[in-house]
Amino acid sequence: MNFISLLRKWYKINARSLPWRETSNPYNIWVSEIIFQQTRINQGHNYYLNFIKKFPDIKTLAEASEDEILQAWQGLGYYSRAHNLHFTAKYVSNDLNGVFPSSYSEIVQLKGIGKYTAAAIASISFDEKVPAIDGNAFRVYSRIFNSDRDISKASTFNYFFNLLKPMMPDDPGDFNQAVMDLGALICSPTNPKCGQCPVNTDCSAYKENTQNRLPVKTSSLKIKEEKLHYVYVTHSDQLLIKKRDHKSIWKGLYEFPEFENYFKKFEIIHTHLIKHKLSHKLLLITISEIRIKSEEFYNIARKTNAIILTKNELKNYAFPKPLKKFFIL
Ligand code: ADE
Repeated sequence: MNFISLLRKWYKINARSLPWRETSNPYNIWVSEIIFQQTRINQGHNYYLNFIKKFPDIKTLAEASEDEILQAWQGLGYYSRAHNLHFTAKYVSNDLNGVFPSSYSEIVQLKGIGKYTAAAIASISFDEKVPAIDGNAFRVYSRIFNSDRDISKASTFNYFFNLLKPMMPDDPGDFNQAVMDLGALICSPTNPKCGQCPVNTDCSAYKENTQNRLPVKTSSLKIKEEKLHYVYVTHSDQLLIKKRDHKSIWKGLYEFPEFENYFKKFEIIHTHLIKHKLSHKLLLITISEIRIKSEEFYNIARKTNAIILTKNELKNYAFPKPLKKFFIL
């Protein structure tokens, strides 16, 4: 039997039971695929449930405020995913009469949706025979076909897409998710469990014993360091925060004012250093703590354009993970 029939048979018995697999509604599938693009299933599972509870359909999401959406996304990281979900929900609601497009070629044009996500939605929600190829699927396919093509190249994506497309079975959504489960449970990046693999009789890498060398990926992102220096300015139980706007990471989330020379005249009670890893950056965050007893606090708020809050109110604002950790310490 070939790997497609073997995998479908295996999936019927071994599919992971996951909440978004109980529906084919494109809204739910879209939300789940966006969450799980850069987030592990365990970590994102409850975020998915909470997000769907809070924004049960595309209209509710379109009408929500940016702050509400970022609150629900708080801690998941890659906040552009949340901004794009909001943008596309408004577009579908206002310009497409609230009807989510139903073909791969239309879905892939929506903001925030790439080829993998478009194929996942088109196959799971609309039974379109398109392969969903993300990093996990690349690994599975590179091994099954014993391919040493470099998966960081666009031409390799096209190669596998065109190879797989005519092979897609009548249940393309299940098939794509079977590949995801095989990649997660058996065909792992290191120490794949080839002995237990349902498709090992049709896996060329297993035959050639090349599975540990595949997939080939040449370009790896260089991790850059970025320094952030904040002031945590308090006045009795009040403090200052700001909404982050133009900057690449954490757009729309809240943070403390940036440290400026002006703050050097105050006594710094404590300096906190926090290291926070993102996929492509290492953030070196310094937070200088300053307590101000005088009315000067209100001048600083005006000068830095900051919002004055009590510590109790912090929970109503979406903060990046390392800053949230700082104030719940
Ligand atoms: N990762 C991304 N999408 C997924 C899905 N539909 N099922 C399991 N894992 C996934």
